[in-house]
Amino acid sequence: MEFSTHTTASLHQIKTAALAIGIYADGELSPAADVIDRASDHAVRNVVKTEFRGRAGATLVLRSLPGVTAQRVVLVGLGKQSEYNARAHAAAEQGFAAYCATARLTEGASTLVANPVADVDLRTRARSAAIAAGAATYHYDTTFSAPDRDARPKLKKIVQVVDRADVAQVQQGLREGAAIAHGMELTRNLGNLPGNICTPTYLGDTAKKLAREFGSLKVEVLDRKQVEALGMGSFLSVARGSEEPLRFIVLRHQIKAAKKSKSGPVVLVGKGITFDAGGISLKPAATMDEMKYDMCGAASVLGTFRALAELELPVEVVGLIAACENLPSGKANKPGDVVTSMSGQTIEILNTDAEGRLVLCDALTYAERFKPSAVIDIATLTGACVVALGHVNTGLFSTDDSLADALLSAGKQSLDTAWRLPMDSAYQDQLKSNFADIANIGGPAAGSVTAACFLSRFTKAYRWAHLDIAGTAWRGGKDKGATARPVPMLMQFLLDQA
Ligand code: BES
Ligand code: MN
Ligand code: ZN
Repeated sequence: MEFSTHTTASLHQIKTAALAIGIYADGELSPAADVIDRASDHAVRNVVKTEFRGRAGATLVLRSLPGVTAQRVVLVGLGKQSEYNARAHAAAEQGFAAYCATARLTEGASTLVANPVADVDLRTRARSAAIAAGAATYHYDTTFSAPDRDARPKLKKIVQVVDRADVAQVQQGLREGAAIAHGMELTRNLGNLPGNICTPTYLGDTAKKLAREFGSLKVEVLDRKQVEALGMGSFLSVARGSEEPLRFIVLRHQIKAAKKSKSGPVVLVGKGITFDAGGISLKPAATMDEMKYDMCGAASVLGTFRALAELELPVEVVGLIAACENLPSGKANKPGDVVTSMSGQTIEILNTDAEGRLVLCDALTYAERFKPSAVIDIATLTGACVVALGHVNTGLFSTDDSLADALLSAGKQSLDTAWRLPMDSAYQDQLKSNFADIANIGGPAAGSVTAACFLSRFTKAYRWAHLDIAGTAWRGGKDKGATARPVPMLMQFLLDQA
């Protein structure tokens, strides 16, 4: 989709299929709504409070208003003016884009970014408008035998109508938002694809395709032999249980013009289990299909790289993806097996379903060679994180307060929030093993904390944070689908570094 700006002194004469104007829940009109109201002999005020109450994101369409050139005027609810915030703004932009999509429109014009939000600048509002439009128009139909082409949203363009003085800021925000939206679309698609299509090989091919498309990206895809040569015994032990070949993907984003940062790149590490049956510690059947989403960490790394590359963001970033399946078989890990990680530490596998940490630990050791300024791993790591935080906040774990604070703040800014959980050294005791340096599970208590503690054993060489996205990467139930979280948070973090 295309996002642009338009300036006009006479909003009522703008030519468009649909013009969005904001209405607060207390009946207050936004300045743009007021202009349209006066031009149309109060057609707007006449429906406000009776037919339209201004709930955030709600829409009501008025057609062919006298004195107004736009074919449709779309009243968009902003919620209560006293409570108007970044979320209400995003909901409004999403409501408008969703309306345009269902009405089969190809273009629309919005005045919504012009409405002030306390502590949220224009550039951020424009960014979130583009992200919201991307979410509203996402449509999955890859694996239907005869996709209904008519069901695909046709929305090609949203124009933001803004004051001349605001054009530069809004355009910058829209450019960023469009790149993030495109990255999120990739992340959603990869997540939603079934495990028999989105295999480790498919993830590797997707990375290679990105590198062909964008000059700033370099990609290396390692196979089993190369991973053996690196000594990634822990990752290999999980991959061995499946016929599907593993992939270890290394992505690099580097803008030539940007001077090489002295502090080293940010490294993003994604869990890429393209299907997690649990292995010999087999999962129950109910909702096991959702374990195709166990590669959403990897998908968020790929989506972030797509956004970085489209934006040509002047930050150095490395992406690492450990991709394989976790299946039961005659070659699979067994409870009690001891494997040797790339770091040299031995691991007793007490539960083969705690496989995410087994593939991540070797990727985290591999990350050392980049002398990173920070390493962030992203993983659908524990069901316990869903119990603790539900589907609202991503679990954030870090041994570095400044890195944790930067990610928490990026999450707030981008409406893609995280909540920090503890990592006191006392939890480490739960990982004691009688037969190896460390056990891969720490018992039922504080399951997401001990998972993070396990990872921390492999991250001593750099600043590190871990994002557990088990509750946030996808939605289950009737609206089952990938959310593309935490791409917005990661991009905000990287924009803040640039
Ligand atoms: N991929 C799962 C975590 C998961 C489960 C995410 C359900 C979202 C929903 C992970 O590999 C896993 O199976 N973790 C185990 C760890 C346990 C064996 C210590 C879990 O959470 O049950
Ligand atoms: Mn598992
Ligand atoms: Zn898993």
